[in-house]
Amino acid sequence: MDFFAYRDGVLHAEDVAIPAIAESVGTPVYVYSEATLRRHARVFREALAPVARTHFAFAVKSNPNLAVLRVLRDEGFGADVVSIGEARRALAAGMPAGDIVFSGVGKTDAEMAEAVEAGIGQFNLESEEEGIELARIAHERGLTATAALRVNPDVDAGTHDKISTGKADNKFGVPFYAAKEIFSRLAALDGMNLRGLAVHIGSQISNLDPSRAAFTKMGGLMRELREAGHTITHMDLGGGLGVPYKSGEELPTPADYGAMVADVTGDWDVTVMFEPGRVITGNSGILVSTVIRVKRGASNPFVVVDAAMNDLARPAMYDAWHDVVAVKPSGERTTANVVGPICESSDTFAKNREMDAVVTGDLVAFRTAGAYGATMANTYNSRPLVPEVLVSGDRYAVVANRIEPAAILAAEQVPDWLK
Ligand code: LLP
Repeated sequence: MDFFAYRDGVLHAEDVAIPAIAESVGTPVYVYSEATLRRHARVFREALAPVARTHFAFAVKSNPNLAVLRVLRDEGFGADVVSIGEARRALAAGMPAGDIVFSGVGKTDAEMAEAVEAGIGQFNLESEEEGIELARIAHERGLTATAALRVNPDVDAGTHDKISTGKADNKFGVPFYAAKEIFSRLAALDGMNLRGLAVHIGSQISNLDPSRAAFTKMGGLMRELREAGHTITHMDLGGGLGVPYKSGEELPTPADYGAMVADVTGDWDVTVMFEPGRVITGNSGILVSTVIRVKRGASNPFVVVDAAMNDLARPAMYDAWHDVVAVKPSGERTTANVVGPICESSDTFAKNREMDAVVTGDLVAFRTAGAYGATMANTYNSRPLVPEVLVSGDRYAVVANRIEPAAILAAEQVPDWLK
């Protein structure tokens, strides 16, 4: 459930009419609903209430906006970060360092040093080599790094190949068969407090069976480690729960997920950690765009909008579906291709789509754009970096400015030999 709805025929974010935002901020623009963010955070937390000890680390990569992080901090979430840049954002939003989990397959020494010094709560180690480096960095500073070993369970999450992470040939974690030996060697290092295991098999997961299989496998490994004398106090089950992108689409709910997790982890006696991203932010945001013109096509008309693949990359990258709706639907329907102004055919948001009929100047909204939307934006074709707005009741504020091409140009120089 979200708080984007039509009132008197006009799409609103909570109590704010979308045209008011479009007029004052311009388009394209991302619009987030604070009430929706809070609701999703609470629903997820409540779904996991049957698990005795939990820790929630919001996957910053899904929406790193500072204001969004501040809302989630208020909801008692820590952060799952994959770069020192994300860690700095989480800290800037006021999240305690101890509530931050540092994941990621390519942590550099400089990143690990800064994070150790900042007191980051847990490093999810992606390899033995990384663990050795981290222990050395911490030990040299007279500190101890708290960590979990990320294991690749070799389970196919059944999601899009580009966002699948738990198969043996994916780059993430240590192989399942080698995990016990690697754990033992890393646990013995000075500077290392290895307290648990981590797993994350993929994103936009629409069937809970692979997750159940992976978590069950991890529970078995946890027991073997305990039998070998290791103390396991934390198990990080990652993120990945999918959200409906098409109206009417049925997916496992947070409650279904919570029941499965409670069932699998009931006798684990650990703090179970979660890294949800999309399920919190996905339906909390829309991308608002203006129709530049409607162009006749060979079969369907092309609705050319002022948003493009640089603003919302998901359709171009993963053939992802986003519902497209008119902000003020006339009641007429059409079948069209929705495209942006960028000079390549992948700049297509929807093909052969049955949708509201629109004309030049109309506003449209791409739904479910709060996760992996603005954060994946770029300035391709020398377009501005898209701005973001947060709505709360009848208030709204720009929470990320539009970065104009002139600002990007100002950071470039012509070398002396070309002057
Ligand atoms: N934890 C780890 C270790 C991850 O790699 C990810 C996502 C998450 C948590 C959060 O997953 P979520 O709950 O959001 O599914 N750009 C792609 C998604 C990439 C996901 C990468 N990892 C997209 O737009 O679909």
